[in-house]
Amino acid sequence: ARWRGLTMSSGTPNDLSPSFQPLGAAEASRLLAAAERAAGFAYVPFSRFPVGAALLLANGEVVGGCNVEDGTYDLTAHAERVALWKAVSEGHRDFRAIAVWAGATPLHHVTPCGSCRQALLQWLPPEAPVVWLDGVLGEPVQTPLSALLPEQFRFNPPG
Ligand code: THU
Ligand code: ZN
Repeated sequence: ARWRGLTMSSGTPNDLSPSFQPLGAAEASRLLAAAERAAGFAYVPFSRFPVGAALLLANGEVVGGCNVEDGTYDLTAHAERVALWKAVSEGHRDFRAIAVWAGATPLHHVTPCGSCRQALLQWLPPEAPVVWLDGVLGEPVQTPLSALLPEQFRFNPPG
């Protein structure tokens, strides 16, 4: 299952992204813990499925986000994009990694959804580690962002 990323213990780049530089195990665990704390603020009366995200900025700061559901359902904001746009709207431009947390059982085995992957690739380097908790292995894994969304859309303005 190497394509899913790296276990915290293995520490060797996988075949898809030979230049992938995962966070250290302690740093990854800290980021995941920040995502778990952010999930504590989730507003989820409809799904009852709290999600938290934590963005690691280049300056070492961490910006958290949680899902905020809406009665229309489709206006629901995802944790990852809340964290991203909080940070961007405060002037941050340099991002190193993101962690996402939705619980600690196989039922809560989550990675960012497709739309969040696209939004993250607008701002994070393609090789940025995405830290998530493998609910089946029961341990954090790291995946390079671009491996989660090959051939992402890029806007190349004409002229
Ligand atoms: N959710 C996120 O916050 N991030 C994702 O990328 C996937 C889905 C939230 C939206 C909704 O509140 C709940 O998870 C169930 O779909
Ligand atoms: Zn999403």
